[in-house]
Amino acid sequence: MVKMAKKLSKEPYKGVRDFYPEDMFALNYITDVMRESAERFGYVEYSASLLEPTELYESKTSEEIVNEQTYTFTDRGNRSVTLRPEMTPTVARMVAARRRELSFPLRWYSIPNIFRYERPQKGRLREHWQLNCDLFGVSTIEADVEIISLANEIMKSFGAKDEDFVIKINSRNALADLAKKANISSEKQNELFRLIDRVEKMKPEEFKQELENLTGKNAEAVKRYMEGEEVPEDVASILQALAGRGIKNAIFTPSIARGFDYYTGIVFEVSDTNPENNRSLFGGGRYDNLLENFDEESIPAVGFGMGDVTIKEFLESRNLIPTYISSTDLYICVLSDEAKQEAQEIAGVLRSEGFNVALNITEKKVGEQIKKASKDKIPFTLCIGDDEIKSRKFTLKNLINEEETQTSKEGIADVLKGSSS
Ligand code: HAM
Repeated sequence: MVKMAKKLSKEPYKGVRDFYPEDMFALNYITDVMRESAERFGYVEYSASLLEPTELYESKTSEEIVNEQTYTFTDRGNRSVTLRPEMTPTVARMVAARRRELSFPLRWYSIPNIFRYERPQKGRLREHWQLNCDLFGVSTIEADVEIISLANEIMKSFGAKDEDFVIKINSRNALADLAKKANISSEKQNELFRLIDRVEKMKPEEFKQELENLTGKNAEAVKRYMEGEEVPEDVASILQALAGRGIKNAIFTPSIARGFDYYTGIVFEVSDTNPENNRSLFGGGRYDNLLENFDEESIPAVGFGMGDVTIKEFLESRNLIPTYISSTDLYICVLSDEAKQEAQEIAGVLRSEGFNVALNITEKKVGEQIKKASKDKIPFTLCIGDDEIKSRKFTLKNLINEEETQTSKEGIADVLKGSSS
């Protein structure tokens, strides 16, 4: 007897997802809304490979991500390669490479898959898709306001209401001033930002202790800032401009610092207001110096990254994801051998008119053919047998409302169209 090899696991790799058609439908819905919203603001799409030289992340990104969360390997040519853990260094590299040919301001978006070696948990996986919208070449708050307005617009396009989410804004300038006041050297200021970023996850005594370890006797200014009563000037101007555009759910939040070292101006995060899921949905900020890594001169930039995992959880909790329906418009059931030819012809004509048509190619009974179409959530079925060929009358059945419509061969397209309009 042949010894059977051990069966392979059916599970995907830890922390990543398989996308069955229903999952792909939800992901496509999410990325379609992202894409349409970004394009409505005049953003154009770019892309890049998920492989990058490791050195791209070694300066000015996030220590935590580079040291603990990257997937890095050595290729056959002895180069160190990293699967992108975010898109910002890539887009900065691309803009720097063509800075002379590009006409600024640049409005760019992309929806790459991103890899981070994180502990898989609610809202956090090892691969996710992330909309990145970035505006290059404008240093005034007009750009910050546009980026935040776009973030708000995407939430609205998903069907979220003002009370469902809040836009939390803070200022890296103000935080840098604070670090100075607390006598923290500029090399150590990122440690302060990271500590502030974690404040909501820490016990108050723990925060106090770590703050004192970092600032010694100069912790007072930081504590005062964290009370949130004095809104930094740049944040105040942005809040005012946003209110002028009808965006009223933005607030100054001193605990938002964001983990990346490259932010230089405002930083923001959009959070779910549901107390059971009060985590951040997505975030971004201004990063005016990142392009200096590639060139003598810098280019001001502001943008954000919005992941599919957190937004999907938000949408599911509010019933905002449409119910799955197949991308196939029509399933043709074939009742006899003679009908095969007719069915092929009808399918061919309808496909040439832009409909997606699947045709039965099994010997299954008609009842089973219809059941399959219904299980696959195909909106229409059409049965073709000897009677239909003789009478030239065809019956289309709508899966959703179970309505049946009799029509001539030429009328089939109109019935299908009627349902989609
Ligand atoms: P980030 O906050 O690290 O920012 O990621 C942005 C968003 O991506 C998060 O708020 C979340 O929605 C999603 N995300 C991040 N990590 C994971 C994960 N492990 N699993 C699921 N979703 C995740 C950045 O990456 C910046 N580069 C964004 C940016 C663009 N700033 C300026 N331009």
